[in-house]
Amino acid sequence: MPATENIYLPKTAVLDRVISEIHEVKTFYWHFEESAEQTAFKHFRPGQFAQVSLFGVGEFPTSLPPSPTEDETFFTVRQVGSCTSALHHLNPGDKFAVRGPYGNGFPMEQYYGRNLIFVAGGIGLIPLRSCIVYALKNREKYERIQIFHGAKTPGELMYVPKLHEWEQTPGVECHLTVDRAGDNWTGNVGVVGSLFKKPGVQVPVENTIAFVCGPPIMFRFVIKDLLGMGFHERNIISTLERYMKCGVGKCGHCCIGVAYVCVDGPVFTYEQIKRLGEDI
Ligand SMILES: Cc1cc2nc3c(=O)[nH]c(=O)nc-3n(C[C@H](O)[C@H](O)[C@H](O)COP(=O)(O)OP(=O)(O)OC[C@H]3O[C@@H](n4cnc5c(N)ncnc54)[C@H](O)[C@@H]3O)c2cc1C
Ligand code: FES
Repeated sequence: MPATENIYLPKTAVLDRVISEIHEVKTFYWHFEESAEQTAFKHFRPGQFAQVSLFGVGEFPTSLPPSPTEDETFFTVRQVGSCTSALHHLNPGDKFAVRGPYGNGFPMEQYYGRNLIFVAGGIGLIPLRSCIVYALKNREKYERIQIFHGAKTPGELMYVPKLHEWEQTPGVECHLTVDRAGDNWTGNVGVVGSLFKKPGVQVPVENTIAFVCGPPIMFRFVIKDLLGMGFHERNIISTLERYMKCGVGKCGHCCIGVAYVCVDGPVFTYEQIKRLGEDI
């Protein structure tokens, strides 16, 4: 990067298409206006994030759900306030801006030769999608791969076509559950941790990394389950969401104790989260 380049200057992006995932959550496919920017951005790691600017409204951080092994770039965003609503109101062809990728990401290469279990509650599957697709693209580098995804209702399961694909993929175990079943749901009913005890499910603890993302209540219960099964705190890994402004370690908005979530995270092991004194 030239010494004079402004690190806060986002690059213009164009919206290609929008897919509705669940209530108030949509996936936005986009590309950078300049192809060189697109090429440079493709080197992100699973678990990193980007800052998205909506002209005249503001900027917000969002995860990168695609794997770097995929061709398309997209975000999956829940409409909660001013910026996310502005994004939800864009149409294909409209412009916005992106800077990043930022943050540490999941150290997927460090986990070669390990079992991977992915535990996602609701939109917690957004950051984990990237790791799962990456791990499956590099399938021979990992041992067992298990996916556990839970939602309140069947209509709130995320990335449904991808879930079906994973259910059909040899060498992957994909287990789904909902808190409240509808008429057409024949699968498991219960919290996501109930899947660990389902007949036929055997979660390996030795040599296993557990990726856990979801709302705080789900996180607390899943951590309790995993620790009870014998997982070491350093083998449980997650992402922290904090208010962010700069995203690059300058403003201090995201600090937890000595850690800057935007540069030291957002990915932390549970051992690190506890050491930071973070109450999830
Ligand atoms: C690293 C990171 C990755 C994220 N990835 C995603 C993602 O993939 N998809 C997604 O939908 N969202 C994601 N978020 C959350 C997203 O950044 C916020 O929802 C967004 O900033 C809200 O902006 P807004 O202008 O629409 O809302 P605002 O108008 O700023 O706020 C609306 C409401 O949301 C609350 N809020 C805003 N930001 C946060 C936050 N960071 N933590 C807790 N509460 C907040 C406010 O207190 C307020 O109640 C991520 C956040 C971080 C830090
Ligand atoms: S968001 Fe500014 S230091 Fe992290």
